[in-house]
Amino acid sequence: MKNIKAIIFDAYGTLFDVNSAAEKCKNKIGDKWVDFANYWRTTQLEYTWLRSLMRRHKDFWEITEDSLDKSMKIFKIDNSMRNELLNLYKVLSPFKEVPEVLKELKKKNYRLSILSNGTPSLLNELVKSNNLEFLFDDVFSVEEVGIYKPDPKVYDLPIKRYSIKKEEVLFLSSNTWDVSGGGNYGYSSIWINRNDNIFDILDFTPKFEINNLSKLISILK
Ligand code: LAC
Repeated sequence: MKNIKAIIFDAYGTLFDVNSAAEKCKNKIGDKWVDFANYWRTTQLEYTWLRSLMRRHKDFWEITEDSLDKSMKIFKIDNSMRNELLNLYKVLSPFKEVPEVLKELKKKNYRLSILSNGTPSLLNELVKSNNLEFLFDDVFSVEEVGIYKPDPKVYDLPIKRYSIKKEEVLFLSSNTWDVSGGGNYGYSSIWINRNDNIFDILDFTPKFEINNLSKLISILK
């Protein structure tokens, strides 16, 4: 692909494994940990969309707490686990290929950024706890505009900062709706289909579909 001036990554689910917090507690939670983790994530995302539509913004950390509280009730998880799960959410693990791929892209002098629903402090802690902070030029947070993805105002943030064209951004997300949101805005979007999923029917087709980030290197050649 030519004329790419910035490679922008979604954070949660794309670079960092949102299920890794519950997974680290699987001995205490038991077999239901996967369903619980999926429910927590789905509820968290629903709350971002609902709050955006209601114009009642709360930051992503508060939404993560609210969605955890509902999920713990549904799955009957003891309240003593609340702090442990929240602390683990602050230091989620990256997917295994992520550090190497980012280093390789950085060596090739690409401008690399994150564009995420997370708050600036959450994202900075996440990047630092995984020793990835030196690889990113910028970390863009929805907090600058007070509304969540897929509102176009969010995808507009890097365009304004870098003064580049929408199609000069290569946007990567594992979240189908976020790939559609970025594509709808005008980015060249790539879907990281990690779990052999089906894409959404939202009038947008990603430029490429890959099953992990390593494949990005060959796309850029
Ligand atoms: C984010 C969510 C969409 O990082 O995963 O913005």
